Amino acid sequence: MKSNRKRSVRFRRRSISLLVLALLVVVPVISQEWLVPADRQGRLSTFAFNDSIEKAGLQLYNLNCLSCHGNPGKGNYQQLIPPPGDPATEKIQRNRDGEIFFKIMEGRGQMPSFKNTLSSGDIWAIVAYIRSFNSGYVQTVMPEITSGAYPGALIAITLRLAAEKESVIMKVSAIRDNTSVPVVGAGVKLFVKRTFGLLPLDEEKITDDNGMATFGIPPDLRGDTTGNIRVSARFTDEEKFGTAAKDTVLQAGLKVIPVSLVKDRAMWNTLRKAPWWILLSYGLGVILVWGFIIVVMLKLRDIFIIGEFTEKENKREA
Ligand code: HEC
Repeated sequence: MKSNRKRSVRFRRRSISLLVLALLVVVPVISQEWLVPADRQGRLSTFAFNDSIEKAGLQLYNLNCLSCHGNPGKGNYQQLIPPPGDPATEKIQRNRDGEIFFKIMEGRGQMPSFKNTLSSGDIWAIVAYIRSFNSGYVQTVMPEITSGAYPGALIAITLRLAAEKESVIMKVSAIRDNTSVPVVGAGVKLFVKRTFGLLPLDEEKITDDNGMATFGIPPDLRGDTTGNIRVSARFTDEEKFGTAAKDTVLQAGLKVIPVSLVKDRAMWNTLRKAPWWILLSYGLGVILVWGFIIVVMLKLRDIFIIGEFTEKENKREA
């Protein structure tokens, strides 16, 4: 009876560990597809890839990626699950530029995120290096930057509120000599200006073929008394666009009547509006302390008087 139960416990334990093992093997296999959000896939490099950029990319690759992905074309990558893969092969080359960029930025599982260690320029240089192993690759660069017709074009950002006030629509174009081309595939962000810094509105977006990006407005976004919010549009690739930004006011928030912090009695208010309990306890405290001092002084005076009196008595007796 006893040994039977022991055996069944052991059996149960073994089946649980088998299940865990199976999950460990199956889950990574199921989740192998690494999907990149549709709007991020279209991100384009702001500069054209060339030999010197590939060379910079080679150095960055050897420093940051070689340990796991091996030498491109040699297939000598680490045997991890899921496997990192050889960048020269179809597994990685079938990704769009924006997808490779995203995967390097974000990382997944054993692949680290390089968001905080590599600049966007660095990541594009690595993409350039990886692409140098693909003879069929033709780069798509942001149109207005490849186009020799618009060097030094003025970058213009316009922001408007969608009719239902649910989103802000951003349009980015490059303007020169009254000709305007949409800025395609650029990473853009929208912020709300708050007293202490900038609050990001929605995620980073990538401009589409018309140079447009749409940012959702949370329904509980607070504005000023008339519902206005101050927004600021920025590029993510600051290296290319510099500080190009657009600040404007949109009536996109909730109307908020600010609550006065000093209207009612409160601890941080001055004497006139301090709470009763503070005035009372402070007053009592002052009375108590001074009262004690006065009592002590009166007692001292008593001692002095008694001393003088006894001295006189002693003299008279002597
Ligand atoms: C610690 C090991 C490690 C390092 C370092 C590393 N990777 Fe990875 N990488 C992986 C693993 C593991 C995967 C597979 C992840 C997955 O599919 O969940 C991967 C996946 C990728 C993919 C996506 C492949 C696909 O199937 O779409 C790309 C692109 C990539 N790595 C590029 C890089 C680059 C570029 C660097 C250097 C900046 C780098 N990795 C550094 C381990 C690493």
